[in-house]
Amino acid sequence: MVEAVECSQFLSQTPLYITSLSAIKDRLNAYQETISRYFSQYHIHYAMKANSALPLLQHLCQWGSSIEIVSVGELNRALTAGFHPTDIAFSGVGKTQKEIDKALEVEVGYIHAEHMEELWYLLDHTQDKSSCITIRLNPSAEVETHPYLKTGALDSKFGILFEHIQQGFQDKLKHLSPSEKHKYLIPLRGIHIHLGSQLQNPNVYEYVMEECRKLYDFLKSEGAVITHINLGGGLEVKETGVPHDHSDIKNYIEFLSKTFKKYFSEEITLHLEPGRSLVASSSILLTKVLYKKENDAQHKFIYVDAGMNDFPRPSLYHAKHAYVLIPSDLTQMSDKETTYSIVGPVCESGDVLHPKAQLKDSVCPGDSIIFLDVGAYCRSMASFYNLRPIPAEVFCYQGKLLSSLPAHYAAENE
Ligand SMILES: Cc1ncc(COP(=O)(O)O)c(C=O)c1O
Repeated sequence: MVEAVECSQFLSQTPLYITSLSAIKDRLNAYQETISRYFSQYHIHYAMKANSALPLLQHLCQWGSSIEIVSVGELNRALTAGFHPTDIAFSGVGKTQKEIDKALEVEVGYIHAEHMEELWYLLDHTQDKSSCITIRLNPSAEVETHPYLKTGALDSKFGILFEHIQQGFQDKLKHLSPSEKHKYLIPLRGIHIHLGSQLQNPNVYEYVMEECRKLYDFLKSEGAVITHINLGGGLEVKETGVPHDHSDIKNYIEFLSKTFKKYFSEEITLHLEPGRSLVASSSILLTKVLYKKENDAQHKFIYVDAGMNDFPRPSLYHAKHAYVLIPSDLTQMSDKETTYSIVGPVCESGDVLHPKAQLKDSVCPGDSIIFLDVGAYCRSMASFYNLRPIPAEVFCYQGKLLSSLPAHYAAENE
């Protein structure tokens, strides 16, 4: 069951993602309620890349979330979902000029500059626009996470080092008078820092806030008035999913607020861009067992109908997701368990969905295996590799199925 929706009705439609919107609403509420206890001005920009499904975005928009995007494709989808341009934040380390121009044309709320050239282009073109420009600082902060998920370390491609910002201002603005500088820098109103995803230890914010304040002081001395600070790290989602009491969100915001307030006053608006921690534990992936094979006593395989193209996190990040076996015939279920590799149909040896799953010996074709906590960076990262279709996703809300198979999924798969 997902919410009050019986999943057995979908057994003929596997592989299939099933997402609980009510669970996502609970997580968003936990963020909103906790932040509002500590900050009078804040925005939560859901990072669309975690799951870009339209029904999910439409609901988030109705529930008061803002949104973070990284491409014009995501910009178009955010607008389709109903987000007002002023509620959109545009990140991305390789925005093309065409993408920037489009974002400026619709006057998205916030554009994060990741290169000095990009910053000057944005400032040259926002003098008569309402978009707020932010500089993404690379604070050179090491964090404990998967190397692919770090975004604020010295070896990271994201953001700009403080020394390079200083040097860039010196080179570009040295001929301007203080009042000319102030006028030119009016659209520059924010600082953005993102350290990475799956962050386990918030203590790093002590150092990061100090770096943020250093940049704030420098920008102030140059004539910019900074009123927005956008901070990430995404919270860690463990293999066991997110805590039911949302204590992860509460502890994180409490810590962040204490650290933030050491360096900044109430006048600054706080922005957060959570993706994974909002949606990860709200989806399951339903798969069907196709075959069973034992090469020898140590190498036993269960083949399911979802592959690395449908569910890329295990092969891409060696992520381990919890799983549940649903036998097709309960009367045949054995007591004994054996270790199997759960693998998919994709023509790659790396197409392993779980390398060491403990499953009942009686597991057989026709049984189902459900993977848990697959709401973030799973279906949104799915590909057509091997020319396999992208799996469908259905949504439940307030105990009901929203629609069986939304039309746009069918269209995407044709
Ligand atoms: C700028 C930015 N915002 C938000 C996110 C979302 O992070 P998470 O999904 O871990 O919350 C990322 C992830 O890399 C990011 O780079």
